[in-house]
Amino acid sequence: MPKLRLGIRSNSRRIGPAIYLAGLLALGSASVTPAQESSQPWMDARRNPSERAELVLKELTLDEKIALLHGNGMPHVPKWQMPLTSLGNGGAGYVEGIPRLGIPPIVISDAAYGVRGGGDNGRYATALPSSLAAASSWDADLACEYGAQIGRELRNQGFNMTLGGGVDLTRDPRNGRSFEYAGEDPLLAGTVVGNLMKCEQAQHVIGDIKHYAMNDQETGRNIVNVVVSKRAMQESDLLAFHIAIDIAKPGAVMCSYNRVNGTYACENSYLLRDVLKHDWAFPGFVISDWGGTHSTSKAINAGLDQEQPMADFFGPKLKEAVEASTVPMSAIDDSARRVLLAEFASGIVDHPAAKGVPDVAAGLDTAQKIEEQSIVLLKNRDAVLPLVNSQARPQVNSIAVIGGHADVGMISGGGSAQVDPPGGNAIMPPGQGATHWQDHVWFPTSPLKALRAEMPASKISFDSGQDLAAAVNLAKSADVAIVFAYQWQAEGMDLPNLSLPDGQDALIAKVAAANRHTIVVLETGTAVTMPWADDVAAIVEAWYAGSSGHVALAKVLTGQVSPSAKLAMTFPKSEQDLPQVDIPALAPEDAGQGTGVENGETHTASKYSVSYDEGAKVGYKWYESQHKQVLFPFGFGLSYTTYAYSGLKVGGEGEHRTATVTITNTGSRTGTEIAQVYVTLPDAAGESYQRLAGWQRVGLKAGESKAITVAIDPRVLQVFDESGGWKLLPGNYTVGTGPSSAATTLKAQFQVN
Ligand code: BGC
Repeated sequence: MPKLRLGIRSNSRRIGPAIYLAGLLALGSASVTPAQESSQPWMDARRNPSERAELVLKELTLDEKIALLHGNGMPHVPKWQMPLTSLGNGGAGYVEGIPRLGIPPIVISDAAYGVRGGGDNGRYATALPSSLAAASSWDADLACEYGAQIGRELRNQGFNMTLGGGVDLTRDPRNGRSFEYAGEDPLLAGTVVGNLMKCEQAQHVIGDIKHYAMNDQETGRNIVNVVVSKRAMQESDLLAFHIAIDIAKPGAVMCSYNRVNGTYACENSYLLRDVLKHDWAFPGFVISDWGGTHSTSKAINAGLDQEQPMADFFGPKLKEAVEASTVPMSAIDDSARRVLLAEFASGIVDHPAAKGVPDVAAGLDTAQKIEEQSIVLLKNRDAVLPLVNSQARPQVNSIAVIGGHADVGMISGGGSAQVDPPGGNAIMPPGQGATHWQDHVWFPTSPLKALRAEMPASKISFDSGQDLAAAVNLAKSADVAIVFAYQWQAEGMDLPNLSLPDGQDALIAKVAAANRHTIVVLETGTAVTMPWADDVAAIVEAWYAGSSGHVALAKVLTGQVSPSAKLAMTFPKSEQDLPQVDIPALAPEDAGQGTGVENGETHTASKYSVSYDEGAKVGYKWYESQHKQVLFPFGFGLSYTTYAYSGLKVGGEGEHRTATVTITNTGSRTGTEIAQVYVTLPDAAGESYQRLAGWQRVGLKAGESKAITVAIDPRVLQVFDESGGWKLLPGNYTVGTGPSSAATTLKAQFQVN
């Protein structure tokens, strides 16, 4: 058991375990029969989860303890005989329960933006917009709805553990999993993912936050050594994890594939023992990424608790290590206790998952609501949008919808995050009847049809964009042209660059030249470059839009919903501006899914390392400190109305500060503004950039003003001193507020003595 020390220690900013458990305690409550009370006292839900875990632990044999510390294969790579109820259902993993003691098996599914593909098993899941999209709403309550929706559907399908909760920062927008994460800022990403996972776990599934840590690229993910200073990690990437873990109090944290400063994350005692378990007092279990375990004694002694999906290191070898005294029994007890604690605390013992019928309609409503608040309006020249009742333009009689398969659907993100579309892929790959890991999966959510439904009086025509001349002709004939553009991403591969693929830049340029009212709708999982940005009238970032993305998009385009979202990541002008300009091309054995090992030999490429010399300057902090112009800055997003900021005042003392500012809706429509507060630290911090310190979503009617007070997060005011821990530096702090990271024109200062 982690030592129970209560309260927050200033240097390491620990989560008090009591607070942690109190959050989880609320999740489990069920009555027990008198018989159970006497023979199985751990089944009494009135006892606290740690006490219950301890009572069970006392009953376990060594084999039973070890059974809790590894998985039993995956559906397509079975190692041992698995119950059909679990892996037969297409999950990612399975951990034996202890039936004689009433401890259920852990039945695990991926669930990044919905419950992972189950089409082959006849399962249905709602696809929510990507996590990056949801992060663009900057809305903790919406993130909570996101997680709760997934949690309910996991249980409906018989799962009791999720593998969602990705919170790696976007150090490189080419990272193939950017869409699974929540952008480039630790406070925003940690808050969104933390709230998402808190509410997912509240549905009685074991929660998970991943991939801990520095898993910021897919290139060579199994071999790459990430070189980064402790200060940089603590102030950026680890801070995102800490905030998310603090809010969600997840049962599990998944360690990542890569190495960090020379040691694999899943056997890295700095990350697992020192930071996660000691400094943050994380009482749950560390689960390996799938195949991310590399040793037995070293890994468990460093803080790994459970190997997945097999038992290569944490099965018979672990037992031998205990018998040979290279792993102490206390380590086995600690790991088993952590797994049991997560089971009791999340409520999966008291509330066993039972298959049920998902509420499909409710899922679609949630997906639509989230997407409406996630779509970012990046440009709107002459108020070309909205299409209906725009004050700036007459009624639109004809619209040319071009490209992006907008007649049949919208694209989704791939890899282990993939959610299956109902009925199959809207664009079936040639020769295949089912979808595979590397197929581009299109949901049958046609924006063309959704737009036609919203604008029955307009003539809306479609051209695929395959033939440039035909697309240009259609664009010329219409009042407005809308070009749909996509960029597919998936786990296991990074994007070679940030350009739209398949000649889409040329298509957009041609259409823009043919029609002054050209609107581009992007379906992307990350930033893209836009050589045509100056030439088009409007740009709408719809992300991977989920099961109701088409409806949400049509509501935004027609103006029933005024866009309010803001970018959770910078859109750079070019790859040349990134901290790492080149991503190397590795041999297939090393790149992506490769393990760097062939015929038992480790490749030289396994010496591959990436130095994050930009340190804590992730995203906007990098561009700002390097004075690089960007295409669209972090925090940027327009709406159909306009806002003004005035009267900034700073209150509070020491590290507990607030920023009060008045926001006025200066336009003619109701809208919601995401007002942002940034802080620049004193010179002694050696930083030439701002840090996001807080924000508030403010709903305002036309002409209305509201004074809002934003609490400045104290964690953002501190620096990490590698010898002394967290410190608040004395000196002058500058607070800036405004509508984006690049527009913090209202400034105020405060002094710390
Ligand atoms: C991914 C994890 C995922 C796991 C199980 C791994 O390849 O990195 O994110 O949860 O597979 O599917």
